[in-house]
Amino acid sequence: MKTVFINLTPKKKNSMSDYLLRTTKFFTKGECSVVNYRGRADDKKILSELKKAQNLVFATPLYVDGLPSHVLELLQRLERLVSKELNVYALVNCGFYEGEQCELALNMIKIWCKHSNTNFSGGLGLGAGEMHRVLRWNISVAIILTILGVIVSTFISHTVGISLLWNAFGFIFFWFIFSLNMFLSAQKIANSISKSQNIGLFYTTVSFCPSWLFTFFASVYWILRAFFVHSVPIWHMFKRYNLK
Ligand SMILES: Cc1cc2nc3c(=O)[nH]c(=O)nc-3n(C[C@H](O)[C@H](O)[C@H](O)COP(=O)(O)O)c2cc1C
Repeated sequence: MKTVFINLTPKKKNSMSDYLLRTTKFFTKGECSVVNYRGRADDKKILSELKKAQNLVFATPLYVDGLPSHVLELLQRLERLVSKELNVYALVNCGFYEGEQCELALNMIKIWCKHSNTNFSGGLGLGAGEMHRVLRWNISVAIILTILGVIVSTFISHTVGISLLWNAFGFIFFWFIFSLNMFLSAQKIANSISKSQNIGLFYTTVSFCPSWLFTFFASVYWILRAFFVHSVPIWHMFKRYNLK
């Protein structure tokens, strides 16, 4: 059993599509290969990987409630070239809280399967994609805090060192707790992929985090990001522009 995963985000690194794809791949049994789609030049690579494959998994971000235009172009080109025996799955992630936001994009892939005569076998719509992506940094922070904690508790102060180790644990704990739904959903779809079973459409979002808390985290994140990455202070965000 061979499964080909196609990563359709235009981001070169640190994308949520890649994270979701790799988490699903981790749980998928059998031979797996990944193609990071960068443009038309990758069509040949995709088709050659698909030659001996039974399953095809598209991993894509949601753009303006649908599939990104470069994905639509790829689908159009692949339509008549893929094997009719293929089982097609989709992993769509979006920035908004509700995974259901991805429904239209998932249905676009479903319709593509009808056109290409392939078997649409299900898809996952994941909300809070950006939050899941950023939460991954908790692992790096936890590793740094653990190293610092061990050094500080051995050579400087036992109490400060232990408090750093507790902080490291907190970062790992919150990464795991908030991502739990994502891991479980990735495992659920991976089980179906491994058996080439139809799982239908299902949706999830960040776990143990109500939407008001998500909105708070997201607002703080975007305000800090706008300031430190794009040098846009918060008061400029509310400035009215006369666009006439
Ligand atoms: C041009 C553009 C349009 C987007 N449109 C939506 C949207 O309609 N709804 C939504 O929830 N998120 C939207 N997003 C957010 C992305 O879906 C989200 O950040 C996702 O996690 C990106 O995945 P990636 O890291 O794999 O590229 C949009 C992002 C961009 C860049």
